[in-house]
Amino acid sequence: MKKEQVVNCQFSVWYPLFKKHTIKSLILPIPQNVIDYLLDDGTLVVSGSENNDSQTQINNSDSDEEDVQWTDDETTTAVKAPEFPEFNIKVQEAINVLGGCVFPKLNWSAPRDANWIALNSSLQCQSLSDIFLVFKSSDFITHDLTQPFLHCSDDSPDPAINYELVLRKWSELIPGAEFRCFVKENKVIAISQRDYTQHYQHIAKQEASISSSILEFFRDHIQYRFPDEDFVLDVYRDSSGRMWLIDFNPFGEVTDSLLFTWEELTSGKNLTESQTQEDTTLQDGPAFRYTTSEVTVQPSPCLSYRIPRDFLDLTTGEDAHKLIDFLKLKKGQQEEESSDEEGDEP
Ligand SMILES: Nc1ncnc2c1ncn2[C@@H]1O[C@H](COP(=O)(O)OP(=O)(O)OP(=O)(O)O)[C@@H](O)[C@H]1O
Ligand SMILES: [Mg+2]
Repeated sequence: MKKEQVVNCQFSVWYPLFKKHTIKSLILPIPQNVIDYLLDDGTLVVSGSENNDSQTQINNSDSDEEDVQWTDDETTTAVKAPEFPEFNIKVQEAINVLGGCVFPKLNWSAPRDANWIALNSSLQCQSLSDIFLVFKSSDFITHDLTQPFLHCSDDSPDPAINYELVLRKWSELIPGAEFRCFVKENKVIAISQRDYTQHYQHIAKQEASISSSILEFFRDHIQYRFPDEDFVLDVYRDSSGRMWLIDFNPFGEVTDSLLFTWEELTSGKNLTESQTQEDTTLQDGPAFRYTTSEVTVQPSPCLSYRIPRDFLDLTTGEDAHKLIDFLKLKKGQQEEESSDEEGDEP
C-alpha cells in the first residue's frame, strides 16, 4: 500500500466526486488548537457543555479570598475544559443544516470503538461536546491523527495532512444491508457482509440480486472514477434496493478484510475456495462471503475497547443508585478502618 492510496481515501478527496451517491455530509477544517485538545490524553473533560457553573466558581476563586473558604484542598480543583467558541458555532450550524443529528468522522475514521461511552451508546451526535466525547475516547481517531500512514511500503516523506471534521447526516443503516467490496485493478474481486458477527437470513436468499446490484452500481458510478485502481468500497443497499456509497478505504492491511484475509485478497489465491462462512462465486464474478447460521455468532470486534459498565456508570453518574451504593460501601469501609484504629489505641 502506497501513501498516495491513503491520501486518496480521505473523505474530502472522494466526497466531491461521488456526492450524488452517498449520504449528505459537510466538511469543516479542524483548527490546530482543537487537534491539540483531541490528542491531549489528560483527564477527559468535555468542553462545549453549558453546565460549567461549578468550574467557573472555582476558577474565579483566586480573585476573592473569602470564596476559597469552602475548599482548601488543591486536589478538588476541577479541570476546566478548553472552549472553542468560533469552531463550536461552525459545527453547530453544520449540524443544524444536516437536520440536528450527525455521524462524525475524521479524514478516514469514525470513532466506532467509542460508541459505548456515549449516553445513548451510539455515535449519533447533536453538539460539539458529543463529538469530543467520542473522539477523545477513540483509538481509531488517535490513529488518524498520529499514524495515518502505518503499513505503507514507500519511504517517501509523509504527505502533509489537513485535518477535517466530517459531519454526515445521521441515517439509520441496517447492518445486514452493508457490504464491503474489494477492488483490484478496477475490478470487484470480493464482496463481504460488513457486519460478519451476525447471521442475516436474507443475504443467502438474495445473494444473486445483492451481488448484481453491487456490480451494476460499481460499473455505472464508481469504476475508473476513483483516483486509484486498487481500493476498498463500502456500500449499502436500502430497503427499496437502491445502492449507496458509504466509504472508500485503502486496499491494504489498515482496512479490515472481514470474511477474507489480506493474503487471499492480494494473491487472489483461495478466494473462491469455500471457508467456514458461505462462499460462492458467481460465474466470472467476485467471491461473495457471508456468515451462515452454522457459524456461532461472534462478539463485536470493538468489545475489547470498552471498560466495565459499572465503572462507566460511576464515573458518569449515570446510575445514581449505583453511586449511592458505592459511597455507602466506601463510608462503611472508612468507619471500619477508623474503629480498627481506635481499637489499636491502648
Ligand atoms: N451517516 C451515518 N449515520 C448513521 N450511521 C452511519 C452513518 N455512516 C456510517 N454509519 C455506520 O457506521 C459504520 C462505520 O462507518 P464508516 O465506514 O464511515 O466508518 P470507518 O471508520 O470508515 O469504518 P472502517 O474503519 O471499517 O473503514 C457503518 O458501517 C455504518 O453502520
Ligand atoms: Mg472506512
